[in-house]
Amino acid sequence: MVMVLGILGSPREQGNTEILLDEALRGAGEAGAATGKLKLAGLDFAGCSECEECYVTGQCSIEDDMDIVYDALERADRILLASPIFFMGLPSQAKAMIDRTQRYWALKYLLKEDFPAQGTSARYGSFIGVGATRGKQLFDGTILTLKYFFDAIAVKPLRDSYLLVRGVDEKGEIRQREGIPQSAARLGTMLATRD
Ligand SMILES: Cc1cc2nc3c(=O)[nH]c(=O)nc-3n(C[C@H](O)[C@H](O)[C@H](O)COP(=O)(O)O)c2cc1C
Repeated sequence: MVMVLGILGSPREQGNTEILLDEALRGAGEAGAATGKLKLAGLDFAGCSECEECYVTGQCSIEDDMDIVYDALERADRILLASPIFFMGLPSQAKAMIDRTQRYWALKYLLKEDFPAQGTSARYGSFIGVGATRGKQLFDGTILTLKYFFDAIAVKPLRDSYLLVRGVDEKGEIRQREGIPQSAARLGTMLATRD
């Protein structure tokens, strides 16, 4: 069975991002996938300390709740990061999580080892992003970061599937945006059923 992992990058409970992530996971579940959700703000983990231990061992020297995230990233077949934009990039919780996947970058590029995937299906990644403003470049920096994040965790980014929503700010406002929750559900279905 395909396992779809949703990672919530927003610290706001039941905010716009979480509403869309829940819709996507509902779509994935209804399409027959097993689903899991990780709320990064509910975990206690540090950023990367650049100690370089992973360059030698492939393991992270810091013992904290990132172990939960590592385990989930290795078990999942499909990884959906959902996040708001803070200061034109990812919120600190999501960026810290990505920085801590440097151990997988080290595995791949320094130690020449395969990602320790535990699933049996193809690994794909997608993204749901929301922001309050409407600028053309609102998601550009984040999309570039995700390209390298998904490469480190051995996931093929389904770039055309990214759901990018501009002009949403107030908590829960996304519910009133016609067609957007439905688009999130369709994204989840696609992630669950993609060969
Ligand atoms: C610290 C902070 C920084 C933000 N920076 C941006 C920004 O650079 N661009 C933008 O469009 N919206 C920005 N926003 C607005 C959020 O992206 C917006 O409120 C979004 O709907 C929040 O999603 P959530 O409800 O899932 O947390 C910022 C919000 C906060 C709290």
